[in-house]
Amino acid sequence: MSNDAVLKLDSKELTLPTIVGTEGERAVDVRNLRNQTGYITYDDGFGNTGSCQSTITYIDGDKGILHYRGYPIEQLAEHSSFIETAYLITHGELPTMEQRRAFSRLLTENAPIHANMEHMFEVFPAGAHPMAILSAMLNSLGCYYPHLATNDHKQDLENYDETAAIIIAKVRTIAAYSYRASLGKPYIYPRRDLPYCENFLHMMFSDPYEPYIPLPEVSQALNLFLLLHADHEQNCSTSTVRMVASSGANLFASTAAGVCALWGPLHGGANQAVIEMLESIHAEGDDGTKFIQAAKSGNADKRLMGFGHRVYKNYDPRAKIIKQSFYSALASLHIKDDPLLNIAMKLEDAALKDDYFLSRKLYPNVDFYSGLIMRAIGIPKDMFTVMFAIGRMPGWIANWKEVASNPKGRIYRPRQIYVGPSPRDYVPPNKR
Ligand code: CMC
Repeated sequence: MSNDAVLKLDSKELTLPTIVGTEGERAVDVRNLRNQTGYITYDDGFGNTGSCQSTITYIDGDKGILHYRGYPIEQLAEHSSFIETAYLITHGELPTMEQRRAFSRLLTENAPIHANMEHMFEVFPAGAHPMAILSAMLNSLGCYYPHLATNDHKQDLENYDETAAIIIAKVRTIAAYSYRASLGKPYIYPRRDLPYCENFLHMMFSDPYEPYIPLPEVSQALNLFLLLHADHEQNCSTSTVRMVASSGANLFASTAAGVCALWGPLHGGANQAVIEMLESIHAEGDDGTKFIQAAKSGNADKRLMGFGHRVYKNYDPRAKIIKQSFYSALASLHIKDDPLLNIAMKLEDAALKDDYFLSRKLYPNVDFYSGLIMRAIGIPKDMFTVMFAIGRMPGWIANWKEVASNPKGRIYRPRQIYVGPSPRDYVPPNKR
């Protein structure tokens, strides 16, 4: 039996084909709707729109399922590392041992940045947000590799492995340097002998006269944080990367745009917003009780940050995993009685028993805990979203590649319903 959809419009009947994904997700294919009827579909916020077909990440928000390239996030969190997962996401398969070694070598070789780029950090005003710096630096990075940023997708794809490794390696160096510059401290060069996360912590926290040696639980928590953020299908930033890529733009420019989209508090900025919310609850002498009441008012300014998700209508599977790692990092850092942590636990407990949150399927998302982890590691608040960007880089890169290598790819160009003034005549300034 055909599973085509039949649409009745203006007394005409139109047959629309359907598409079924490998996990059974179903879609009505409306690509010919406008040609055949003059109508477009209207879906403010794209909550009901499939903008692409992708082989990277699968999410079932009702069941709380997340897979990267078919592998459940729980298995990757237990057995893999951020770098192995980054390879999986950017290349489609888990690496062989030789591929893994070659990838590590490429990342090590590409960790330093060009000496001229170091001066660029100094031209930002004191207090410049590191997300603004990161986005500007990623785009500038392309200028140091013009042969990898040609805006000719065929040519840029020929160097994909190298470009992907340059971005994954250097985003961490740029992030650490922006932090050092903000403190007026000397830059700490990457070391060839350190793994990815330890090298980042070294560039952040070592001093020329005193190396920083992280506790294993701290680097594991960071590794897990990055792995859990590595991709998340068509969210605001990833769709932005695809949108920019669809014009033919190179990987540096496309990921720089992803950083800008991630910055906002409803997306990557939520981890920072969670800590700010906890700090303000604490400063007001509330233990969370008053805040929970206010969060139920429907007032957007009083939202319980770190709760709710457009896709997950169940516990965010990343939140479950990160919460566990959070407690083991806290134990090894001997953090027992942190007032912000106590407020967070109280908020979570209250919300998970409250009908307002339960009836709207609002559960903790990954950001409820990730800010607390970053804070325990010693990452400053305004760097939280930068950490998210480092983690999300493999996902953005893989999505760029899908767009760039699609032989039938077209520029992304949504339509709109115009609701502004009807045509009217120009009024000269003296008659207005
Ligand atoms: N606190 C209180 N009420 C909420 C919250 C919240 N955090 N989130 C949603 N609601 C209410 C909202 O007021 C609405 O109520 P009503 O039906 O009475 O009008 C209902 O729940 C549905 O909300 P929505 O705004 O239509 O949901 P959305 O899918 O557009 O928004 C969201 C999803 C994540 C933007 C939103 O839940 C939110 O603002 N959460 C706080 C910010 C946050 O934690 N963001 C991180 C998302 S996870 C990271 C990522 O993957 O990017």
